[in-house]
Amino acid sequence: MKLCVIGTGYVGLVGAAIFADWGNDVIGVDIDAKKIEKIKSGEMPIYEPGLAEIVLKNIEDKRLIFTTSLAEGMKDAEIVFICVGTPQSDSGSADLSAVWAVAKEIGENLKDYKVIVTKSTVPVGTNEKVRQIVKENLKTKVEFDVASNPEFLREGCSVEDMKNTDRTVIGSDSKKALDIMKKLYEHLGSPIVEADLRSAEMIKYASNAFLATKISFINEIGQLCEKAAADVSVVAYGMGLDKRIGRHFLNAGIGYGGSCFPKDVAALYRTSTDQAYDFKLLRSVMEVNVLQRTHFVKKVTRKYGRNLSGKTFACLGLAFKGDTDDIRESVSLEVIRTLRGMGATIRAYDPEAMENAKKELGDANIEYAKDMYDAAKGADAIFILTEWKEFAGIDLKKVKSLMNEAVIYDGRNLLSKEDVESAGFNYFAIGKRTNGLEELKDESYMSASALLRNGNGK
Ligand code: UGA
Repeated sequence: MKLCVIGTGYVGLVGAAIFADWGNDVIGVDIDAKKIEKIKSGEMPIYEPGLAEIVLKNIEDKRLIFTTSLAEGMKDAEIVFICVGTPQSDSGSADLSAVWAVAKEIGENLKDYKVIVTKSTVPVGTNEKVRQIVKENLKTKVEFDVASNPEFLREGCSVEDMKNTDRTVIGSDSKKALDIMKKLYEHLGSPIVEADLRSAEMIKYASNAFLATKISFINEIGQLCEKAAADVSVVAYGMGLDKRIGRHFLNAGIGYGGSCFPKDVAALYRTSTDQAYDFKLLRSVMEVNVLQRTHFVKKVTRKYGRNLSGKTFACLGLAFKGDTDDIRESVSLEVIRTLRGMGATIRAYDPEAMENAKKELGDANIEYAKDMYDAAKGADAIFILTEWKEFAGIDLKKVKSLMNEAVIYDGRNLLSKEDVESAGFNYFAIGKRTNGLEELKDESYMSASALLRNGNGK
């Protein structure tokens, strides 16, 4: 099939590359000529395992080309995908100005029937407005259909996710458009959900919001576990084996970040208030997510007080999650800013996100280390802030010998409590009693202990 993909960000670039890899002729369009030149030379604007190889192979096989001209890109395409950014606006809703601009240009250049598909994450009703804008800008009388085809790719594994998707959602009120879209995806063998436009748009938000809810739920269970002397990792494992619950997205930590969950949960909440519906659960999901990092930092101030000057902290992980260089809405950076704001000197390390983080954090009171051991040199504590696999394999003996004091704050529960404590560290994790927490003898712990001792507190 002949396809045009507008936007070469995470969604567009991965989409264009994989569509081409499936044997389609794809033209990727982006207004940024420099970005396109870089992509053509194999330099990807994002860190995404396996992507550069697929892009280069398909450019070489002449199935994937790039242009800055939307008119040229869409000329022969059967399907035109809109994959431009929809960042969060000041009101919490999605900023759709890029989508509207592209819809206008598509209208101006439409000369024959095409399916115009929105892949960007857009609120309910957007595709109807896309249709209206395209129609208003047509230069000749020509038929077209719109469709919603949200993506469910996770950064860091989007190539794999796109090839092995659990489902494909196609929303349209035109049978012709649905049939054309199905031709593109049916070889995958996974279910295709045919929906109306609005339901397809809602599926995307509801999915992200539900996953964020799972995370906030397990984070609250973790808070309770700390008080009640249970272990959230064991609890999550036990819960997750129930197929109705599932094991994924039950890892307690310092909260969710990234370019999707915070923005999409806020946008869905905004949609609900626009519809005069108070989505109480979502409000709590967002609140719990912010509180989670506050609770984490409290464990630091309880130990050291609020003046951290003179303390050096090794912060491992800057990206919003493992396997990406993306630092957008990274909780890790928020924690670092807070610690630095209280006077701490930071030694930071991330396998991929150093360059991006440098631009955000600058160099005041922060040094960028070459690996996790370098970061730990002379540190008073290590903070694990991103779930990179390599941090889980840290050599505790080696790292201890490099540090000023043997203290670890594990914001992602990557390490084994037994291993860390028996290696002589003072350990803090999420949602479990550890030697560090017990040493603090904080009030909640004392009251829980009293409860245990006295039986129901009587
Ligand atoms: C998310 C969704 O998972 C994708 O399905 C969706 O397509 C994408 O948003 C999007 O809308 O484009 P992504 O933002 O790449 O993907 O990241 P996730 O892997 O979902 O992680 C989001 C955040 O939740 C990260 O900060 C991660 O550390 C955190 N998380 C995740 C937890 O704290 N606990 C978990 O158990 C899982």
